[in-house]
Amino acid sequence: MLKTLVVYYSFEGNTRYIAEAIAKELGADIQELKPVKDLKSKGFGKYVWGGRQVMTKKEPVLQPLEKRPEDYDVIFIGTPVWVYTFAPALRSFFVKYPMKRKKVALFICHGGGPKDAMAKFEAQVGECTVIGKLDLMNVLDEEPEQKKKAALEWARKCVDAA
Ligand SMILES: Cc1cc2nc3c(=O)[nH]c(=O)nc-3n(C[C@H](O)[C@H](O)[C@H](O)COP(=O)(O)O)c2cc1C
Repeated sequence: MLKTLVVYYSFEGNTRYIAEAIAKELGADIQELKPVKDLKSKGFGKYVWGGRQVMTKKEPVLQPLEKRPEDYDVIFIGTPVWVYTFAPALRSFFVKYPMKRKKVALFICHGGGPKDAMAKFEAQVGECTVIGKLDLMNVLDEEPEQKKKAALEWARKCVDAA
């Protein structure tokens, strides 16, 4: 039986909604990435401060993880898209926990303009086998149940193929 972990960061709940649903569906463990200091504003300021973090390739300090990624065979990794790439908390994660010889499934949540965010995300897990990729737009704002259903079908297929 392959051990499965769902790792994610979410600032406003979209990625969390999908991550929690996948973990529940698969009976997998779940690990949220929580920066010690996250963005304060959910207003327009988030684009300014979040954008700056992306541009400066900031690696925000994360709260200690409860789960050890190295203990798992299959890792689902989820991020919101920030300025056409993965969120800074994921950069911290990849630096501290380089992914090697894992089966990884990647999902991104965005607002309609991800550009090549998935390719940039995938480049971080070079030494792993990517078993699935999914991008979801406006998860909580437009038919969240539909998006969840699609994500669960996708997640099931990923583990069946793993
Ligand atoms: C700093 C920042 C930058 C963003 N940049 C993009 C972007 O380049 N393209 C896009 O489609 N959405 C962008 N968004 C929107 C988020 O990707 C989208 O709202 C996502 O669902 C948020 O996920 P979350 O609720 O898990 O944080 C950005 C949001 C923030 C806060």
